[in-house]
Amino acid sequence: MPRLRQALRERLAASAHWPAFDARLGRHLGALHDELALLYGGRPDFERFLVALLEQAFASWSAREPALKALDARREADPDWFQSQRMLGGVCYVDLFAGDFAGVQARIPFLRELGLNYLHLMPPFECPEPHSDGGYAVTSYRETNPRLGRIDDLRRLARALREAGISLVLDFVFNHSSDEHEWARAARAGDPAFRDFYFLFPDRTEPDRYERTLREIFPDEHAGAFSQLADGRWVWTTFHSYQWDLNYANPAVFAAMAGEMLFIANLGVEFLRMDAVAFIWKRLGSACENLPEAHTLLRAYNALARIAAPALLFKSEAIVHPDEVVRYLSPAECQVSYNPLQMALLWSSLATREVNLLQQALEERHALPAGTAWVNYVRSHDDIGWTFADEDAIELGIHGFDHRQFLNRFYVNRFEGSFARGVPFQDNPHTGDCRISGCCASLCGLEQGDPHAVARILLLHGIVLAAGGIPLLYLGDEIGTSNDFAYLQDPGKAGDSRWVHRPPRRADLEAQRLDGATAAGQIFMGLRRLIERRQATPAFAGGRLIGFRSKNPSVLGFTRPAPEGDLLVLANFSEHEQAIDAAVLAGLVPSAADLVSGRRHELRAGLQLAPYQLLWLQLVQGSS
Ligand code: GLC
Ligand code: GLC
Repeated sequence: MPRLRQALRERLAASAHWPAFDARLGRHLGALHDELALLYGGRPDFERFLVALLEQAFASWSAREPALKALDARREADPDWFQSQRMLGGVCYVDLFAGDFAGVQARIPFLRELGLNYLHLMPPFECPEPHSDGGYAVTSYRETNPRLGRIDDLRRLARALREAGISLVLDFVFNHSSDEHEWARAARAGDPAFRDFYFLFPDRTEPDRYERTLREIFPDEHAGAFSQLADGRWVWTTFHSYQWDLNYANPAVFAAMAGEMLFIANLGVEFLRMDAVAFIWKRLGSACENLPEAHTLLRAYNALARIAAPALLFKSEAIVHPDEVVRYLSPAECQVSYNPLQMALLWSSLATREVNLLQQALEERHALPAGTAWVNYVRSHDDIGWTFADEDAIELGIHGFDHRQFLNRFYVNRFEGSFARGVPFQDNPHTGDCRISGCCASLCGLEQGDPHAVARILLLHGIVLAAGGIPLLYLGDEIGTSNDFAYLQDPGKAGDSRWVHRPPRRADLEAQRLDGATAAGQIFMGLRRLIERRQATPAFAGGRLIGFRSKNPSVLGFTRPAPEGDLLVLANFSEHEQAIDAAVLAGLVPSAADLVSGRRHELRAGLQLAPYQLLWLQLVQGSS
């Protein structure tokens, strides 16, 4: 290590950017070295590889805008900044939400009105049409999709967002590139420098051996995990056949993607959404998901970010078994992560009117290591998959496979009496596996005029807002946007039902947002109220949560402990009134104010919850 640092010092110490870089090397070079040594340390050129990587990192640090360096220093001094109860995220497609980058910039006042301070723009980088997977098939990480604007427009937008107090979130699509990326073209042409960037095979021998232990991710699009090229060869494609998986066993891939990562960081990005993290390392005989090397790679990238772009944090996208999801969370790996378990179980509870699985998840799977946080959400741009653990379910007498079958029928409206209007995604008759597409409003019953739809939408969001971490809204859901079947007319989208829940911005609904006579207005104003209350209530900061058993199977309960007085959250998941017995509430204060409605409740008399009612009760001693 000292030799490494000396080699760098000799070359770089003359620069004014060196001292700050050197100080961070002092703190993080050890981690970077140790992680990379696990992957590539046996190679004779390891040290040269590391020096080149750090020279690249230094060039990136030197080019970093002064405003970003100032942000770096602020974030380093306050590493828990994202645990604040003021945090609120939104996600959208640039084109569908606002046309282009300038359009998003013009919409900053609306984002502020909603209370957002975190904005995830779906991947805006160059990608081929129609084979773009909504931006997840990238041909260049340094150019934007020209329909959205130029890279400098994106930089300008990032600056405007930052000045408005909104952190920009972009994806790092690093498990794969488009098959039209120049690296893929070179690999296909047999260029020796790029041959090992991907997994190319002359015939089916190796693919067949791997597939014995692999799961199919997009079986509607192609069977298995490999796709055949026109010349007969096979290439690894976990997702669409035009998305080629990158081969991180090759250190050149790590280095090339490190350059792209730091370029994206310097655009002014504060959270990098690490796409498809479960899949980034492969080993024959394994499921090629969640391998230890995937974690090593993430920690190596994280150490590099700490050195060259310290304000940058990582958000894990691992939609896998809950035991595996939490393994990506640590200050040295991903500081935040989607919470797919809570998301799926919100929908499960809505379907069954029973909160047992969700209550169990909050009690047993919510706690996280210090310095990390969940991103809690009702739905995303992707499908809803039923990723709860079968072993958890069986403790409650629930059979995982059967329960998933029920949920799928319920949400695609093949279950009598269902209020939901969803669409199947990747329905796999071989395994019985299926996931769900659909807008929040459509899955909650708004599309078919169910009288409880608005209350359901507010209930789900109310839990996401109360459960700590960073709540994330899919923009459009705050005004009750429903499913959009126009995608069936677009040949690039027709085969992928997720487009049903990615509708363009509905200006008509937005115009109704302050009109309490409309569903859009009720949802928007109801949400605004919850957001305001959350942001003003310190008990909602951080992620600590303690289960509270309501003894009513339809009522979820948990407290958010706080020195200034705990908060008790109660949520009725049924369309019937539900009672909570006075005895259950006996240990608490005699009466409490509800932050949602502003009303006081006499707890010593027990509680009566209206259909789908949400209570945020402030338990302050001596407040009665
Ligand atoms: C991620 C994205 C999803 C995309 C896939 C392949 O899971 O969220 O939309 O299809 O990765 O990049
Ligand atoms: C991956 C993808 C996600 C998909 C899931 C399927 O995590 O990123 O889009 O739904 O796998 O299991």
